[in-house]
Amino acid sequence: MQSSKSSRDNFSGKLGIIAATAGSAIGLGNIWRFPYILGENGGGAFLLIYLLFVLIIGVPVMISEFLIGRKAQLNVFGAFRKLAPGQHWYLIGVMGVGAAFLILAFYSVVAGWTLHYVYLSLTNAMSGHTPSEIMAVFEQVQNTKLLSIAWTLLFMGGTAYIVRSGIEKGIERYAKVLMPALLLIIIALNIRSVTLDGASEGLAFLFNPDFSKITSDVVLEALGQAFFSLSIGMGVIVTYGSYIKKDESLGGTALSVSLADTIIALLAGVAIFPAAFAFGMEPDQGPGLVFVTLPNIFNQMTGGYVFGLLFFVLLSIAALTSSISLLEVVVAYFTEELKLRRKQATWIAAGIIAILGIFCALNDSVFGAFDYVSSNILLPLGGLLVVIFVCWIMEKTAPRGEIEADGKKARYYGWFVFIIKFLAPIAIALVFLHGLGWL
Ligand code: PHE
Repeated sequence: MQSSKSSRDNFSGKLGIIAATAGSAIGLGNIWRFPYILGENGGGAFLLIYLLFVLIIGVPVMISEFLIGRKAQLNVFGAFRKLAPGQHWYLIGVMGVGAAFLILAFYSVVAGWTLHYVYLSLTNAMSGHTPSEIMAVFEQVQNTKLLSIAWTLLFMGGTAYIVRSGIEKGIERYAKVLMPALLLIIIALNIRSVTLDGASEGLAFLFNPDFSKITSDVVLEALGQAFFSLSIGMGVIVTYGSYIKKDESLGGTALSVSLADTIIALLAGVAIFPAAFAFGMEPDQGPGLVFVTLPNIFNQMTGGYVFGLLFFVLLSIAALTSSISLLEVVVAYFTEELKLRRKQATWIAAGIIAILGIFCALNDSVFGAFDYVSSNILLPLGGLLVVIFVCWIMEKTAPRGEIEADGKKARYYGWFVFIIKFLAPIAIALVFLHGLGWL
C-alpha cells in the first residue's frame, strides 16, 4: 500500500521486528569485540562512556534510521533519494555499502575462528589444557593461514547461501529462538565465571572506572563500539525499518533492541573478565581474548563440554544473523541500483568480500585497519549524516508523523529532536575530530 514495490515483506509483529533487529545487533560485536576493545581501553571508564553513548547517541540514531526506512519503504539508497530527490544524500548509502564490505571482510575471519572453535569443542580438543596451552591453540589457529582462510570462506559462503534466496522470514524465525538460548548460556557462564577464585579483580576492572585512563582515543573507541554493536550508521536499520508495519512503535523497538544488545555485551564482559583475571590472562591482549578465556571456564565447569559446544554454535549463529544483515545492504544496492539479479548480486558481493576477507586472514594490519576505519570512521560519519538528514533535510512534520504513525503520542519527541539536532551531532563530531587528532 505504501510501497513502491508490490511485494515488500513485513515483519510479522513486535516480537519479530525486535528479534530480527536484535539478531543483526547482537553478534560478534557484543561477545568478541566489546570485551577486547574494553580490555584494551582500560575497563570501567570505557564502559561508562560506552553506556552513555548508547543512550544519547545510539538510541536516537537507531530511531532516525528506522523512521527513514519506514517512511521511504525502500533500501538505504532508494530511501535517501526518495526523501531528498535531486540531492546527493544517497551517498550515505554508498558509504554504508563501503562499510558493509570492510566489516564483513574481517567479521568473516572472526566468525571463521568461531566455527573452528565449534570443531575444537566437538572433538573436545581443549579439555584438560592449561591456560597457556589454550592460548597456544588460538595462536596456532590464527597463524595457520590456510585453515583461517578455509573457515572464512565457509562462513562467507553460508551467509551468501542464505541471503541469495531472500531472508526476512528466515531470520525472524531463527532469531526468536536462538537469541534467548544464547542469553541462557551466557548467564550460566556468568555464574561460573564470578565464582572462580580471583574473580573479583576482573569485576573491579570492569566496573571500577579509572578516569585517568580516558583519552580522546578511548572515547572514539567507545563511540565506534556503540555504532558497531548496534548495527547503526550504515543502512541495516534503514532497511529493516522499511519492513516494519506502520502500527508498530519505532521508539519502543529501538529502546528494546539497544537494551538487549547492551545486556548481552555486559554479560559477555562479566563472563570474560573475572575468568581472564582468575586464569592470569592479560585483559588487553586483543582480538583473541574471548577465544583464550572461555575454554578455561568450560574446563572448570560441570557439563563444560556441552556448554562449550553450545556456546560456540550459538555464537556462530549470532554472527550469521549479523553477517546476513550486512550482506543484505550490499545485495540491495547491487539489485536495485545496478540492476543485477539477486543471485548474481549475492555471489558477486560475496566474492569480493571473500577476497578482502582473505587479506584480513593473512595480515593483521589489514584486519585492524578494516576494523578501525569502518567502526571508528565510517559508522559515526554515517550516523552524523543520518541525524542531520532527519532534522534539517526531511520535511519538518515528517519525522514526527512517522514516529507517531502507530497512533500514539510520542511523549519523548521533544527530547528526541533536541538530541538529534544538537547533542548527538555535536558529540559525534567532537569525539570524531578529537579522536582522529584533527582538533
Ligand atoms: N552489530 C553486529 C555485531 O555486534 C555487527 C554489525 C555491524 C552488523 C554493523 C551490521 C552492521 O556483531
